[in-house]
Amino acid sequence: DWNSGNVIAEQVERIREQVGSGRVLCALSGGVDSAVAAALVHKAVGDQLVCVFVDHGLLRKGEREQVEKDYVAATGVRLVTVDARERFLSALAGVSDPEQKRKIIGREFIRTFEQAERELVAEAAEEGEPIRFLVQGTLYPDVVESGGGSGTANIKSHHNVGGLPEDLQFELVEPLRTLFKDEVRAIGRELGLPEVIVSRQPFPGPGLGIRIVGEVTADRLEILRDADAIAREELTRAGLDGEIWQCPVVLLADVRSVGVQGDGRTYGHPIVLRPVSSEDAMTADWTRLPYDVLARISNRITNEVREINRVVLDVTSKPPGTIEWE
Ligand code: XMP
Repeated sequence: DWNSGNVIAEQVERIREQVGSGRVLCALSGGVDSAVAAALVHKAVGDQLVCVFVDHGLLRKGEREQVEKDYVAATGVRLVTVDARERFLSALAGVSDPEQKRKIIGREFIRTFEQAERELVAEAAEEGEPIRFLVQGTLYPDVVESGGGSGTANIKSHHNVGGLPEDLQFELVEPLRTLFKDEVRAIGRELGLPEVIVSRQPFPGPGLGIRIVGEVTADRLEILRDADAIAREELTRAGLDGEIWQCPVVLLADVRSVGVQGDGRTYGHPIVLRPVSSEDAMTADWTRLPYDVLARISNRITNEVREINRVVLDVTSKPPGTIEWE
């Protein structure tokens, strides 16, 4: 009989056994897996753990604050935030190709994380306690998918954060290796993590960078963040979060269409809503959202977000469409 309290007690004991008095590093992504893994490790070894959160500027509204304030308040973890927004924006300047964007975001993430890691390792060494362990939020389905290989010194590509450096010689701590997503959520709740993090829907590592069709700029990110926040707010208010696997909101930055507002002509950009229902993201169907909810989202986005004069609904299943547009 599965019981989150038992699993927590068991994992805490295992982590203590593995880690001893060693120091541990964890990259938080803002997602549920890394958040729960870090909270378990913190419960087990307290301040031997230090968490790193890279703000690449491609996050949704409020996500950095949820990690920096709510998560830290709930867990007491020591958190180092790296503000890498400028770095990512410069690296992405002039780039429209989706694969190119992914490569750049993955590469910059690794560099940023490595830099933070080197600084923390140096600091720890000065204190006489090198960092030997790295936490990964690997779930059971990930273990099965990758052939069941055990956690060794080499870090496999981490799909949530775009791949970690191959040559990092850490020993992995993977307290979620035997668990499914809903079990991870139950444990997160039992550990008192903020509901916004525990119930978060999947969000791609490259973030809003792959939800702007066209070049990624600070201005466009702000527009998309505002539109995305409205869509999420209205879907939550309508009680639809359980029905929706995720709902990417996409800015067609390279497209303009004519509109009318007040007594003036507008020439703005469309926002695409992409609500999908799915079991595992391998296949998906578009979610039949109630018309009144769609109407509210559309009205609010066109009224409240500058430059947006049209909202369109993606009614494509996967396949043939993917969930994300890029
Ligand atoms: P697609 O668009 O391939 O997405 O149907 C399937 C699921 O994967 C997520 N996704 C990503 N997650 N890094 C990630 O961590 C990525 O580069 C990435 N691309 C897509 C997507 O949000 C959906 O849940």
